[in-house]
Amino acid sequence: MATSNRTGIASIGVQLPPLALSVEDLARIRGVDPNKFTVGLGCREIALCPEGWDAATLAVGAARRALSRWNGDLSRIGMIVVGTESAKDMSRPLSAFVAEELGLSGAIRSYEVKHACYGGTLALRQALEWRWSGAARGKAALVIASDVALYALEDGGEPTQGAGAVAFVVDEPHVAHVDVDTYAYAEPAFDFWRPVGQLFPSVQGQLSLDCYKKAAASCFREMVGDRDARSVLGEYHSASFHVPFPKMVVKAVQAVGEELGLSAEETKTFFDSKVDPTMVWNRRAGNCYTAALWLSVAHALAGRKTGEKLLAFSYGSGFGAELLSITAGELAEQGAWVADVEADLAGRTLCSAERYLELRKDHVGKK
Ligand code: HMG
Repeated sequence: MATSNRTGIASIGVQLPPLALSVEDLARIRGVDPNKFTVGLGCREIALCPEGWDAATLAVGAARRALSRWNGDLSRIGMIVVGTESAKDMSRPLSAFVAEELGLSGAIRSYEVKHACYGGTLALRQALEWRWSGAARGKAALVIASDVALYALEDGGEPTQGAGAVAFVVDEPHVAHVDVDTYAYAEPAFDFWRPVGQLFPSVQGQLSLDCYKKAAASCFREMVGDRDARSVLGEYHSASFHVPFPKMVVKAVQAVGEELGLSAEETKTFFDSKVDPTMVWNRRAGNCYTAALWLSVAHALAGRKTGEKLLAFSYGSGFGAELLSITAGELAEQGAWVADVEADLAGRTLCSAERYLELRKDHVGKK
């Protein structure tokens, strides 16, 4: 696979909100066996935004953290791009809300990208490709994936809610290189969508699972081609997936294993050793849509030695998907962004289900 030496991820910042709800508490108020949420879906906690917090707040927090660890100054930022499906406005991009807070203006391309949970990956790819093309003329990009994932009250998706943001400065590849080659798959479907003016998503649950599995199998097949799947997968230290809920990733890895002709035992070993360990933070944050894959990648990258390789599978409903290959740079091992997540988790409040209902009182009876 091709790589480009002078461009990649120069720094990472993560922001989780200061509240969370245990899915067991949610199960209690919904009259559901908690094992359905914990074992059946693999969920643990749902990160929640308190009053006054939204996707812009999360994006600004993650961006500040990424910028604080980057050895450049704001005048070198030539692009700010936010991937989100929690837009505040149909016209004004979320990037403008973030730029305002950060004091970013001038000779900058500022915009928002939408493709469900795949939007953050597209934003990152556009920033990389902008640098690779030469159009950046040496400038750096600030890329943010930020979302607040809420479903209608009592919807089947309620235990899979969450929130969070991951930001990158795309410049020199001190934290990671990203391969130029990627493996994409898209097919139009109504698996999960949110019509204009509708507060919460509409979902065809089983179809969404099938679309995700088909996309994962197709992207991995495209990457492996006619090579030996075991040796291709063996090149990677870990494989991160978009995590709407951890059980989805189990099912997707099974579909990938079947597509690649792995035995059930080989697939389980791949999942247990290379995929499951990347979802530690996702279990604490829940589905944070565009940020979910990148939260998993941030966890997987921390502690990696220079040259170790990771896979990142991005999925967005609608649907579109892309499989990326990432190589750790010299700053991955120290994983400075781990401190963000540790601080946010240590500082956050696990709220009661009653407080959750209070937070959502304006959503009663709404779709
Ligand atoms: P559901 O109908 O409430 O749950 O919704 P279920 O009846 O399918 O049960 C779920 C699992 O729990 C099953 O496991 C049950 O057997 C098990 P499985 O058989 O599938 O392995 N179960 C139990 N286990 C232990 N003890 C029990 C028990 N009871 C049941 N007592 C659904 C599930 C995923 C459909 C719902 O949560 C939902 O609609 N979620 C949102 C949609 C979603 O996340 N789809 C994933 C793919 S699409 C995607 O990833 C994109 C997305 O992130 C959005 C974007 O791109 O922007 C969503």
